[in-house]
Amino acid sequence: MTRMMLFLLQTIDQARAAGGSFMPPQATEIAKEYDSLYAFLLWVSLIACLILIGGMIYFVVKYRRKTANDKTPYISHNTFLEFLWSFIPLVFFLAMFGWGWYLYQQMRTMPENGLEVHVHAKQWQWDFAYKSGKTSSGEFTVPVNTPVKLIMTSSDVIHSFYIPSMRIKQDVIPGRYTAESFNAEKLGDFQIFCAEYCGISHSGMLAKMHVVSQEDYEKWLQENDEGLTLAQKGEKLYNSKGCVACHSVDGSIKVGPSWKGLFGSKQELVSGGTETVDDNYLHNFILNPNAKPVKGFPVGVMPTFQGQLTEEELTALIEYVKSLK
Ligand code: CUA
Repeated sequence: MTRMMLFLLQTIDQARAAGGSFMPPQATEIAKEYDSLYAFLLWVSLIACLILIGGMIYFVVKYRRKTANDKTPYISHNTFLEFLWSFIPLVFFLAMFGWGWYLYQQMRTMPENGLEVHVHAKQWQWDFAYKSGKTSSGEFTVPVNTPVKLIMTSSDVIHSFYIPSMRIKQDVIPGRYTAESFNAEKLGDFQIFCAEYCGISHSGMLAKMHVVSQEDYEKWLQENDEGLTLAQKGEKLYNSKGCVACHSVDGSIKVGPSWKGLFGSKQELVSGGTETVDDNYLHNFILNPNAKPVKGFPVGVMPTFQGQLTEEELTALIEYVKSLK
């Protein structure tokens, strides 16, 4: 017993020394706020539990049947008490909702001019691609104190990109892009998990994130540089896959819209309404060109590229469109 107590005390001591918490290290500002909210929920639950269970035990003992002649008094209700035990929890629940909503809002607002990193998931590995053309697998590097936006998709089943130290987790879904963002303010290596069961090696689908100084990041980007940026790879595909036949890159209209200035523009749909051209819009359009035809262009002319482009190639093509501002 004493040995166990000692072990427990040592564990608490180690946790204290490591940063004062049983939680994973806090690598972002949001992670700290997230933990405060979590602690609040835990303490409120604990206190409510003590009041409830403690009160119950107290009443069981105090009002137990003492003699065979004891009669249960008739009590119908107490309006004031009932109001209190409804109103006080309501205040706490609203506070939890408000606080949670405020934090979630911050976590889901993507940085406008952040560093974009593409994440490609497949059974059972994580691949990363940068605008510079740099790619890596199983690990990636980001500069400290820089807003980072991850644009993620999967080549097979649903995965989930989970960085415990950033307190962020987002499903990675085949056929579309999802995103998550963070601003790391701590140097170091951080573990990444897949948090959605995706087959036999799900538990081994790990990756490491290295948060380094801006200088080291630039250096890392230059190591094993393949020479072509993502956009240049996209330009190659633009020529080899035949996009060039119908789409100009100088603003002139051929069969389809020009790619110059396309990204971020608004497109009027035949079915009415408009859509903004973003990563997901282009991804959908290249694979399903006739799902949402655009006003002013012939319908049914563009062939689908389903099965002809890998997710990596789609990313490169979209980066090429992005570069033609
Ligand atoms: Cu990928 Cu679990």
